[in-house]
Amino acid sequence: MPKRSIRDLDLAGRRVFVRVDFNVPLADGAVADDTRIRAALPTLRLALERGATLVLASHLGRPKGTVKPALGLAPVGARLAELLARPVTLAADAIGAEARRAIEKAGAGGVTLLENLRFHAGEERNDPDFARELAAPVDVYVNDAFGAAHRAHASTAGIVPLVADAGAGLLLASELEHLGALLASPARPFTAVLGGAKVSGKLEVIETLLGRVDALLVGGAMAYTFFKARGLPVGGSLVEPDLLDATRRVEQAAAERGVRLVLPADHVVADRLDADAAHEELAVDDPAIGTRIGVDIGARTRRAFAAAIGGSRTVVWNGPLGVFEIGAFGAGTMAVAHAVADCAGTTVIGGGDSVAAVARAGVSDRITHISTGGGASLEFLGGRTLPGVAALPDAAHP
Ligand code: 3PG
Repeated sequence: MPKRSIRDLDLAGRRVFVRVDFNVPLADGAVADDTRIRAALPTLRLALERGATLVLASHLGRPKGTVKPALGLAPVGARLAELLARPVTLAADAIGAEARRAIEKAGAGGVTLLENLRFHAGEERNDPDFARELAAPVDVYVNDAFGAAHRAHASTAGIVPLVADAGAGLLLASELEHLGALLASPARPFTAVLGGAKVSGKLEVIETLLGRVDALLVGGAMAYTFFKARGLPVGGSLVEPDLLDATRRVEQAAAERGVRLVLPADHVVADRLDADAAHEELAVDDPAIGTRIGVDIGARTRRAFAAAIGGSRTVVWNGPLGVFEIGAFGAGTMAVAHAVADCAGTTVIGGGDSVAAVARAGVSDRITHISTGGGASLEFLGGRTLPGVAALPDAAHP
C-alpha cells in the first residue's frame, strides 16, 4: 500500500519534523562522505519552498543512550548549511528546552538540526515519553530516513501517531519504489553478495534472503564464522563463537531451498591489519594460516564471485569482502565492485562500505540503484516490512 507523500501534506507555516539519516562517516571532526546528506536535500528543499519551518533529527553512530561528544551532529550541521546555502541552527539536545530554544532562534522558515537522537536511551527503546517530547514542538512529521527505516525507534515509529499529519519524504519514497520494483519480480538468476564484519547483524536477513535468491556469496570477516563451523582453520580471524550453530542452520536451509551458498575457496592472510603487514594467499583449508588473520578473498574466489555475478540478472551487494580500507587488502572488494558494474542485469548496492567501494572503483554510475540504506535495503529485499514505513499513514484513495 503506497504511503502518504510529503507532496500531499500542508506544510506552509508549520513546524515539520523530518527524520533524516545523517549517520555519516566523520574524519578529523568533519563529514568524510556527505552522500546521505545530499540524498535528503530534495525533501528539505521542497519543504522549505512550501513554507515549512524545518526541525531535522538523526542518529549518528551507536552512543547507546549516553552523550558522546565525538558523535555530536555539529559537523553534519556545518556541511548541511553549506549544501543548503542557508543557516542551520544546531540544538544542544534533541528534546526539551534546548530544542525549543534552537527552533525559536532559527525562526519561521528556518532550519534546526536536533542533537543526536541516540544520546537518549528512549530513542532506541521507542519510549513513548521520549516520542512525546520529540513531537511536542512540531506539527507535521516526515520520514526521509530510509537507512533507519528498519528500526522501530521513537523517531521512526513512536512519534508518528503523536503529530497532526505525517508522510514519506522523497528519498524514502524513491528507495521504496526502486527496491519495491526489484522485489516484485526479480529477474533470475538472483544473486546476493554479503560481506562485512559480522554474521550477527545479518543473520535474519540471510534467512529471509534465502527464500528469494538463487545464489548467496559470502565473503569478508563474516565468512570466518562459517569456516569455523565447518571445522576449517581460521587463525586469529574474527569469529562469533555464539553463531556457529546459526551458520550451520543457514547452510542447511540453503541446501534445502536449492540456494547455491558460495564461501571463499582461498583467502589473503596477514600478520596484522597494517598496510605494510606481510601477507600471502592460501586455500581456506590450509593450516599454514597459523595465528594470522584473514583479510581478503583470494584470486580464485575473486574469479568465482565475478563469474557468478556476471551470470546473474539481479545482483544485490552489501558489505566489503576484505579489509578494503587498507589498499593491499582491497582487491576482493574492488573485483566485486567491477563485477557488479559489469553485470548486464539489475544491480543494487547498499551499505556505506560497498557504496564507498564502487565510488573508489569509479563505477558508481554503472549501478542500477545505490541505496542509502545498508541494513534497511537488505531487510526490505529480504521481504520484511520496515517499521519506519509501516508506521506512516497510507496514501488516500483518489
Ligand atoms: C545505517 O548506517 O545503516 C543506518 O544509519 C542505521 O544505523 P544502525 O545500524 O546503527 O541502526
